[in-house]
Amino acid sequence: MGYVETFMERACRTGVSLGAFMDDSLVGEIHAARLGPRQFNHVLGDLTIAVHPDVQGKGVGSALFAAFFNAAASISPAITRVELTARSGNAGALRLYERLGFIPEGRLVGRVKLPNGAIEDDIPMGRSL
Ligand SMILES: CC(C)(COP(=O)(O)OP(=O)(O)OC[C@H]1O[C@@H](n2cnc3c(N)ncnc32)[C@H](O)[C@@H]1OP(=O)(O)O)[C@@H](O)C(=O)NCCC(=O)NCCS
Repeated sequence: MGYVETFMERACRTGVSLGAFMDDSLVGEIHAARLGPRQFNHVLGDLTIAVHPDVQGKGVGSALFAAFFNAAASISPAITRVELTARSGNAGALRLYERLGFIPEGRLVGRVKLPNGAIEDDIPMGRSL
């Protein structure tokens, strides 16, 4: 099974996966999944969001997060924490996540290698639900 199919299947089965549509076209997606071991059952992790470049900066990402938090609050067993990581050079995403209540919880130095070979840190962030 491919990378996308694997995480979509896990998010749909154990967590939350939502799409944003404009004129019947998918323009954004957000998902997160439970981590597996029972002691983490109250956590949704590996949150990933992407909005089509043509409609970025128009509120789609914020709307997806609002719907995501609502959906996460309604699944069972209850979710009390959401986790994601953001690349240190992705200033726009980091700003958005902090505005939505995510708190930086450390720094994974040199974790991300970009297609051009540059290395960046990864910032783990958490938010209570
Ligand atoms: C990050 C992302 C999901 C935000 O969704 P969005 O629909 O553009 O966000 P909204 O319009 O609801 O909110 C805009 C905020 O998002 C942030 N942002 C991040 N990337 C942005 C972009 N390319 N264009 C505009 N805003 C962006 C900014 O903080 C902006 O707030 P500001 O007014 O303080 O500048 C989206 O831009 C995206 O898919 N980017 C590329 C993929 C990516 O970086 N994913 C996150 C991986 S951790």
